[in-house]
Amino acid sequence: MEVIPCPDRDRAVALTARLIETRLRAKPDLVLGLATGRTMEEVYARLVASGVSFARCTTFNLDEYVGLPPEDPNSYASYMRHHLFDHVDIDPARTHLPEGMARDLGTAAADYEARIAAAGGIDLQLLGIGESGHIGFNEPLSALRSRTRDKILTPTTRRQNAGMFGGDSAAVPKRALTMGVGTILDTRELVLLASGTAKASVVARAVEGPLTSRVSASAIQLHTRCKVVLDAEAAAGL
Ligand code: GLP
Repeated sequence: MEVIPCPDRDRAVALTARLIETRLRAKPDLVLGLATGRTMEEVYARLVASGVSFARCTTFNLDEYVGLPPEDPNSYASYMRHHLFDHVDIDPARTHLPEGMARDLGTAAADYEARIAAAGGIDLQLLGIGESGHIGFNEPLSALRSRTRDKILTPTTRRQNAGMFGGDSAAVPKRALTMGVGTILDTRELVLLASGTAKASVVARAVEGPLTSRVSASAIQLHTRCKVVLDAEAAAGL
């Protein structure tokens, strides 16, 4: 694992965006794993501003809320359109998110894994980290070999994400369909970006703590090609 501490959030974001841009320029048909959350908004803004082409790129998002249709402004499908897809030359048919509205979530999850496999696997996976230690929506005690499936969200996560739901954590969906920890570990390269004081303790547990399903993000220690990009505040516990 390569830990890259940056002096501030701006530089951490810029470095992450530049890494994605570099990989896209080197391999225009990159299979790119995407993440959501406030941290990623500026990464996508920088990617848009870079002018790099997504015309041949295929994307797979980590997760989607169960029960929110793609048109719902709080769905991750809307988030991705708003922050990235509507501003670049990507082919919408090549963008994938788990189907949170599926009647049969088990089938939808298996189908998502099959689509990733059919694309040849994910070249580069972008990750954030939740205060519960989640990557994607792999809440504590997710099996380290788990695959895409639906997960119940912890109160910590629903509180953390309440901002997007008018500050009301009761309005945050109770479940999400998420790539598993095993799905994430199968990707060929990982880059985890974290910023801010609120993430310092969970980043320290993920990077330096024991490998444990109590902190799903600690599983990145098993990956042979992984960068952790941090601003000074998020790196403060290391
Ligand atoms: C959500 C996503 C995670 C993301 C996390 C961090 O919970 N499912 O993939 O890492 O948000 O969010 P933020 O960047 O807003 O702190």
